[in-house]
Amino acid sequence: MHHPKWGVFMEEHGKVHVVEMTEGTRKIKGLGVLDPMLELASIDIGQQVLVGQKILTRLPLRLPELNRGMVRRAQTISAKDAGFFITRMGLGAGDTVLEAGIGSAGLSMHIARVIGQQGKHITVEPRSEHAEVGLENLRRAKESWLEFPEHHHLEGRIEEVIPHIKDITATVDAIVLDLPEHPSAIQAVAELLAVGGRLACYCPVSQQLEQAWVTCEEVGLTVEWAGELMEREWGRAAKGGMRPVNGPFGHTAFLLLAQRNRVIQ
Ligand SMILES: C[S@@+](CC[C@H](N)C(=O)[O-])C[C@H]1O[C@@H](n2cnc3c(N)ncnc32)[C@H](O)[C@@H]1O
Repeated sequence: MHHPKWGVFMEEHGKVHVVEMTEGTRKIKGLGVLDPMLELASIDIGQQVLVGQKILTRLPLRLPELNRGMVRRAQTISAKDAGFFITRMGLGAGDTVLEAGIGSAGLSMHIARVIGQQGKHITVEPRSEHAEVGLENLRRAKESWLEFPEHHHLEGRIEEVIPHIKDITATVDAIVLDLPEHPSAIQAVAELLAVGGRLACYCPVSQQLEQAWVTCEEVGLTVEWAGELMEREWGRAAKGGMRPVNGPFGHTAFLLLAQRNRVIQ
């Protein structure tokens, strides 16, 4: 899988750089001033190259590398929580997914990867400075992967763009809301959810979780699961054996999943 448009280069300690393979000498964040076409384009996957003081290994453009080397602005949803959403909402080829807000598109990249060429992905974002970052990450993914969904991006608050979403699709199979105010967003999107489809909310604080739960019930959705996922990494101890690594054992967010399991009159 050698894609000339983008290159993934990993430093010895694991830091990843995603580089656009276009001509011209320019400053590339973290790597200094270089012409990627001249210095990097001919490096094969798995081969090494010296850039300044750094030994870089070229890797294929797989999702974890694109994710690690992505442009960041708004806080992203990590693989731990993205994986849960994808499996518990049952996302797969050909699904139609609505996501608000796009932020840095951390979650969007995971969704785009699994719904494939036949999928439809609608993203919504009121802040253009966030959308710019998110859309850049999706452009990289689109130009790197064999399959990418039909993508529609709408500018504005989710509460304001429902008619535009209806111009694209009558119903959606899944909705993810990662935004500060869940109640008004849930009220706005609920009618779009197909029977059997699921709504997921990403709630950094517990008050948001409770508000999301109450609103889901008010709009006729059935709450299926709410809670958080704990992830604890282990490593090899200096004197032998394995143990949890030192470092933060942090909180990301509370997650809520609700299903539309009947037609609402
Ligand atoms: C934490 S970020 C989303 C991060 C994204 N899930 C990711 O993984 O990269 C939350 C985003 O929701 C946007 N937002 C806030 N209110 C919104 C609304 N009413 N409708 C749509 N998006 C909204 C914010 O501007 C922000 O970019």
